[in-house]
Amino acid sequence: MNRVLEPELMDDPKQAEAYARADFAEENQGFVERFKEYFPEFSHGLVLDLGCGPADIPIRFAKLYPACQVIGIDASAPMIQLSEQAVKQAGLADRVTLRCERIDDVAGANVADAAISNSLLHHLPNPLQFWHRLRQFVKHGSPVLVMDLLRPESPEAAQAIVDQYAADEPDILRRDFYNSLLAAFTEDEIGAQLAKMNLTRLLIDVPDDRHWVVGGIVY
Ligand SMILES: C[S@@+](CC[C@H](N)C(=O)[O-])C[C@H]1O[C@@H](n2cnc3c(N)ncnc32)[C@H](O)[C@@H]1O
Repeated sequence: MNRVLEPELMDDPKQAEAYARADFAEENQGFVERFKEYFPEFSHGLVLDLGCGPADIPIRFAKLYPACQVIGIDASAPMIQLSEQAVKQAGLADRVTLRCERIDDVAGANVADAAISNSLLHHLPNPLQFWHRLRQFVKHGSPVLVMDLLRPESPEAAQAIVDQYAADEPDILRRDFYNSLLAAFTEDEIGAQLAKMNLTRLLIDVPDDRHWVVGGIVY
């Protein structure tokens, strides 16, 4: 099945609200713990989260790494509003800051000590621009961890995944999940993107039936 693009930003307030209310605790905690497992020596510094959504991952990351400052970047105003509330509620406003900007528009190169991103890449029309910005943002020798959905082989297979993992979720979330699966990349496509960007030191893993993970040190 070919990739079917979905709208880039999640800027419908109802959509952002439904996403923020959904329970991604296991997946998101797994993501930050995977970072720790991949990079046991990492302990402090400035971390960028590209496409941070409602900031559940920046909050979990900041809790796991008390010596880190996290900047979450998302170009959806409703999403950033929700993330500001969540950060305040978590009492982490001194260490987690948020920026409502497209990753293409964020100024800065060699500024971060690490970068993370979950579920952003499938939103982007041009995935190479994502890898370019990721490499540009981090200092030489910094760890990066990126995770996203895998595109299934057919619309029917995508629907089966939605039914299996989001049976009881609101319609808006099920619709977004389905559209996201259709917009996602295959493992081969991710490998080709990394090769094109000279990022082949980063390793791809497929931890389950619907995700890929790319991690490693960026030089
Ligand atoms: C599926 S959500 C993932 C949120 C979060 N990373 C998580 O795992 O919960 C993707 C987010 O990326 C944002 N986004 C899409 N394109 C973007 C861009 N070019 N620059 C910044 N944010 C973007 C969307 O607005 C949305 O909030």
